[in-house]
Amino acid sequence: MRETRIHEKTFREMITEEVIAERIKQLALQINNDLSGKDVVFIGILNGAFLFAADLFRQIDFPARISFVKLASYKGTSSSGTIKELIGWNEDINNKTVVVIEDIVDTGNTLERIVDELVIRKAAEIKIAALLYKPDAYKYKETISLDYIGFEIPNDFVVGFGLDYDGLGRNLPSVYTLIQ
Ligand code: IMP
Ligand code: MG
Repeated sequence: MRETRIHEKTFREMITEEVIAERIKQLALQINNDLSGKDVVFIGILNGAFLFAADLFRQIDFPARISFVKLASYKGTSSSGTIKELIGWNEDINNKTVVVIEDIVDTGNTLERIVDELVIRKAAEIKIAALLYKPDAYKYKETISLDYIGFEIPNDFVVGFGLDYDGLGRNLPSVYTLIQ
């Protein structure tokens, strides 16, 4: 398996770009089956979800909108716990089906903040799509169900395919996990 270095850290390839592409195709198929015919707005969470959102949305086969919001909560290699401001809401989601597109669901704090906002803005239905999911870290199993998950991964720090370490690594085509 390939390795890559960012700053002083070494990461090993964990999910290849071919496997990611195949999985995104399956998720798009599911979404097409489930949501075709509805009034759907996809909301991508920047920065991390930009590649996943692009690849997923390209394979949506019914007319749908997409918009992006930004909310950064992560510094370095462990969740800071402090949630920053949500910016970029300009899409009317009142009475619409919303698909939140996340790169990764870790503690779920980011997701909770977004779901709260969607409820306030009166979304008719909320679906969550996440490329990666860390079940051992997720705190909202009882309250926020995850509808379209790419891969369940261990509670280790990962980079690539949109995810960063200190702003770097987002352009790696595969997902890499921290080894040392
Ligand atoms: P949560 O709020 O703890 O669920 O974290 C969500 C956000 O933290 C994600 O949208 C990512 O941007 C970032 N994040 C969580 N885990 C990782 C990781 O392993 N690598 C890089 N970023 C991560
Ligand atoms: Mg993110």
